[in-house]
Amino acid sequence: MSSAISIPLSSSPHVAVSLSPTTALLHERFRQNIVSGHPSVRIPKVLHPVENEDLKLLLLENISQEAVKAFQAHGFHVDHSTKAMSEDELVAKIGSYHAIGIRSKTKITERVIKAASKLLVIGCFCIGTNQVDLLTAAKAGIPVFNSPFSNSRSVAELVLSEVIGLSRQYFERAFEMRQGIWNKQSKGCWEIRGKTLGIVGYGHIGSQLSVLAEAFGMRVLFYDVINIMPLGSARQVESLNVLLAESDFVTLHVPELPETMNMISTEQLAQMKQGAYLINNARGKVVDIPALIDALKSKHLAGAAIDVYPAEPGSNGAPFDDQLNSWASTLRSTPNVILTPHIGGSTEEAQRMIGEEVSSALTRYLNYGSTLGAVNFPEVDLRAITAEQGDHVRICHVHNNIPGVLKQVNEVLSPYNVEKQYSDSKGDIAYLMADIADVSPSDINRLRELISRTNANILTRLLA
Ligand SMILES: NC(=O)c1ccc[n+]([C@@H]2O[C@H](COP(=O)([O-])OP(=O)(O)OC[C@H]3O[C@@H](n4cnc5c(N)ncnc54)[C@H](O)[C@@H]3O)[C@@H](O)[C@H]2O)c1
Repeated sequence: MSSAISIPLSSSPHVAVSLSPTTALLHERFRQNIVSGHPSVRIPKVLHPVENEDLKLLLLENISQEAVKAFQAHGFHVDHSTKAMSEDELVAKIGSYHAIGIRSKTKITERVIKAASKLLVIGCFCIGTNQVDLLTAAKAGIPVFNSPFSNSRSVAELVLSEVIGLSRQYFERAFEMRQGIWNKQSKGCWEIRGKTLGIVGYGHIGSQLSVLAEAFGMRVLFYDVINIMPLGSARQVESLNVLLAESDFVTLHVPELPETMNMISTEQLAQMKQGAYLINNARGKVVDIPALIDALKSKHLAGAAIDVYPAEPGSNGAPFDDQLNSWASTLRSTPNVILTPHIGGSTEEAQRMIGEEVSSALTRYLNYGSTLGAVNFPEVDLRAITAEQGDHVRICHVHNNIPGVLKQVNEVLSPYNVEKQYSDSKGDIAYLMADIADVSPSDINRLRELISRTNANILTRLLA
């Protein structure tokens, strides 16, 4: 049961957020400081784009209703569809929208971006961003946000269940029971307490798993290309070979990189202990599956769990057969192998967190200009303008990364007091944020026009 507390945000009475008890306590202290006039606490001002028209969002592929409500609470107009859109449909529709939210089925191609004359930002409510032409989006001044780590816990829990599933062979027994076969046995079935779990890649998922496995009494080793502070009593080992030789279970949590392609093949499988198990929930190409099948058939390995494959079907119900991967039917008939259809991160909790994370990234960009977490853009943010700084204006200037831009922009800003500014670049694209004091309402449009006319301008927005 959730112990979250719902607190209305003082600056926006229609928005309620769920906070953990600790966060709620901090907020309560913050609120009391404001009430008692504590001098060190500054209330942030809620900013809005200066443009005349209301912002319109298009949300496709059944993005969560929580995200829809969060956007509406910020005053955005939201059109929501449960389906993906084809390129032609998008080209016809996208011209009137300022933001789009998609999952993995909708493709945002160069043609779509060219038709998106008002588009400011793209939200991928999923892990990957391959479905978006990231470079073309950046060149059009459109940052792309996603949610790469919201499902780490879901993957870690699945792996732990597979560790137990493999060592107790219960999915084999459950499968037999469904066929009407009673087959009670303890041979080859083990507790996981006291066994060694070897984690390859100690990032978001690997480190979560480490904590869960220790709670089950496992000894945890990990191998990573960088030195990482171990959690609990886990121990980093100096090479993959050491990890393979010492572990009863080896689980892979590395990204797909040229160095990790087939990182577990015949040679590495031979280094694993006799009777050990291999688990892959990372990426399909990290394991050489024909080599794994050989290791299982020869009984060198006692079992394996595989959630990801070099080629995966494009939709539910599609066959997982030899046409897709030439070894599929052999793998399917190999005993003590758990095969799952890339469900490592697929939980309701992960979906909800993805919805929260991506919708708040889009809102932060639209209302405050922050690009923290953008995948195709320089990451820039400024501390908040405070409520008492009523005549401050925030300038968000996306431009081509060429010499002389800051000189031109700062000439425009020179009559004003520039409270703070920050600029960064990524490839051909640069992004400047600047907060300007004492700007009269009549100056705002003039400022925007002057900066928009500088020769490297891609997009200039003012927030006030
Ligand atoms: N099955 C699923 O549904 C699912 C869901 C989420 C993530 N994933 C996959 O899980 C993998 C891990 O995700 P994460 O969020 O923990 O990533 P992460 O980036 O947080 O961690 C990856 C770790 O691997 C390490 N690493 C990189 N190259 C290595 C190498 N050659 N040898 C050893 N370590 C190496 C990195 O230093 C890093 O610590 C990714 O491939 C991701 O795509 C799968």
